[in-house]
Formats: sequence, C-alpha cells, structure tokens
Amino acid sequence: MTTTVRDIREQGLGRTLRRDAWWMAPLATAVVLGAFGIYATWVAWIDRQYQWGPYLSPFYSPFFEPSWWPLSPAFLILWVPLGFRATCYYYRKAYYRAFFMDPPACAVGEARHAYKGETALFVLQNVHRFFLYLAILLVFILAYDVVLATRWPVAGVAPAGEAALGPREFGIGVGTVVMAVNVVLLGIYTFSCHSLRHLVGGRTDCYSCTTFGRTRYRLWRGVTALNEQHMLWAWTSLFSVGLTDVYIRLCAAGVITDLRLL
Ligand code: FES
Repeated sequence: MTTTVRDIREQGLGRTLRRDAWWMAPLATAVVLGAFGIYATWVAWIDRQYQWGPYLSPFYSPFFEPSWWPLSPAFLILWVPLGFRATCYYYRKAYYRAFFMDPPACAVGEARHAYKGETALFVLQNVHRFFLYLAILLVFILAYDVVLATRWPVAGVAPAGEAALGPREFGIGVGTVVMAVNVVLLGIYTFSCHSLRHLVGGRTDCYSCTTFGRTRYRLWRGVTALNEQHMLWAWTSLFSVGLTDVYIRLCAAGVITDLRLL
C-alpha cells in the first residue's frame, strides 16, 4: 500500500516526507517575534528614554500620561499595534506555526489531527478590521511626529519633557530620516492589509455597476499591489519600529550622536 503525505502527517508532530529545511521559517519567526516581544516589554515597562530633542519613540506615540494612570504611558498606546499585528492574517499563520506548531509547516505532522479552524476564542481574530481603523489613525499620528522631528529647539536640544517648549527652527537630522522611513514602511504595511483590500474592493462583482466604481477599482488595484508583498511589509515595518526606537534611545543615552543634516 502506498504511503501518502496524509498518512505521514497523521503519524505525529514533525513527521513529514519533506526533505527541505521546513523548520527554518517557524524557528526564525519564533526567535524574532519572541525577541521583539521581550524588547517591547522592556522599553515600555523599564527604560523610559523614549525622547530626544524633537524625536519621539514610536512605542510612546501619541504621548499622553494621565495622572490616574499608574503604569508606563506606552501601555496606553501599545495595545493598538499589538492587536493589529496579532490579528493580522499573515502573522496569524506565522505564529500559529512558530509557537503552536499547528501545523509547523505545510505537509508536516501536527500535534492534533482534527482541524477546527479559528473557532471558539479564535473568532475574536475577526476584530482585525477594527484594529485596522485604529492603525490607520496611528500612521497619520506617526507622520505628524516626523513633521515635529523637523522642529528643533533654537537653543539646541531641550531635555526630555521640555522639548515642546520654547522657539523652534527647521532642521533635519538622521533621526528625522529614520522616523520618516519608519512611517513609510508602517504605512505600506497598514495599507497592504487584507481587510483594507476587502473594504475597498470586496462585496462587488461589477465595478462599473456600483457607485464610485472606478475609484474603488483603482483603490483596489493599489491595495492589491501592496498586498502581494504583505509578508515583506509585515517584517520590514516590525524591524523599522524597533530600530527607530533603538536609535532614539541611544541618542537619549548619549551612546551615539545624532548627525544634523540640515
Ligand atoms: S492582514 Fe495583515 S495587517 Fe491586515
């Protein structure tokens, strides 16, 4: 009797006929997402060097610190990008494989055999579209932060907490460029979202028969073009957020000196 892929898969976790390094992708995902989670918790909970000159870390934007809030102000913000990424269609696939091995990869055996889909508590993943609305708002706020990052205190770099005070002059530093690149990558990731693609182009079979059909078709084409590389934007934007925070943190700690370009 011939042994099929299904037979092998059902023999248990990790069983497969595949001869390639299928475990590399889930392992790399687990390492990178795990490291990012630890880093984000550390910067939100412990290290408060989130600002230098006109630069503000994306982990703390938009910054507000109400008197009734006992924890780090970062926690008032971070649930938005966390919820957006945790419910993202691409990240769901990635972390189901990396952390739950459900399944670890295509045609590789998993711990449980019955496929139940995203039922029970997992139906909460459907809130993704609502996180999308908040994430779009956040992209515009971070873009505004880039504008503020060109407004330098006239007398030099103000200490953290006083950066909003006093006269300002136009200037661009390396940090401004870093923040701008970050917001571009975050914007592309957000606007390549599967939910957004459905929002602008879904539920219709005939664009020429619907209101604003031509506009919707163009938007759908644009989102689709970005969506084709959604995985790439998911990772590059994650790295850019982390690196932007690291850059501002190192400037604030005096480890590196920000170069003024203009
Ligand atoms: S599907 Fe990935 S951000 Fe929406």
